Amino acid sequence: MSAPSMNGQAPSLPRHLAIIMDGNGRWAVRRGLSRHEGHEMGIEALRRVVRACVARGIPYLTVYAFSTENWERPADEVAALMRLLDRVLIEEVDELAAQGVRVRVLGRRKGLPEDLVARIEQACQKTAGNDRLILSVAWNYGGRAEIVDAAQAIAREAAAGRLDPEAINETLFAEYLYTAGLPDPDLVIRTGGEFRISNFLLWQVAYAEFWATPVLWPDFSERDLDEALEAYRHRSRRFGRVEVGPQP
Ligand code: FPP
Repeated sequence: MSAPSMNGQAPSLPRHLAIIMDGNGRWAVRRGLSRHEGHEMGIEALRRVVRACVARGIPYLTVYAFSTENWERPADEVAALMRLLDRVLIEEVDELAAQGVRVRVLGRRKGLPEDLVARIEQACQKTAGNDRLILSVAWNYGGRAEIVDAAQAIAREAAAGRLDPEAINETLFAEYLYTAGLPDPDLVIRTGGEFRISNFLLWQVAYAEFWATPVLWPDFSERDLDEALEAYRHRSRRFGRVEVGPQP
């Protein structure tokens, strides 16, 4: 968890920004386009936001791109999304590396096409030395699934006698999540006008600030990002404590 500042004010920029990129389908349907074309334009928006985070010095960005629930979508949309990630990982990785971006993919590998898993591992390895921005793409990701996976891994360690159940605390538990090593998000942005968390980073958002906008993801601009960052700057983060007055 990021530490609160002494006066309870949010630091001026979030260290970790998380985004629920919603509204690609509606964006496309309103223009008489296919949902797939909406997802294509969603990539453009993601490029803009990555560049903007690098420029502003935000070191961690996590985006929700494919949830465990998204398998329920029509098969052709699911297949198109898998191809889209594959293509993005091929075409964008050099540009991301040039910007100092490290790519991580959070979620269950099981259930994904084998060649996509290989592509994911390649992109993660190729960018592993970068640290200007850690871009985590949540793919085949579910917050509850993540907690279950962590619980299973911990239980296996305990059953094998390698872990004392009394040693399980919040810090240890977090080390078994897909997000191990990442700080908790400070700010969650949701586009597309809904006010739900939709099974995204359930453990990690315990104290995150939330910002929702009706702007559909393909339209999300640098100005929209700055509006969210400005709102965040004025939030008072107390992490369950009382406001602390100015220090003497
Ligand atoms: C939500 O819009 C968006 C998604 C389920 C997919 C998000 C994917 C992208 C932004 C592009 C792919 C990203 C990568 C990294 C390959 P929706 O389809 O639910 O929109 P709707 O609510 O208007 O139907």
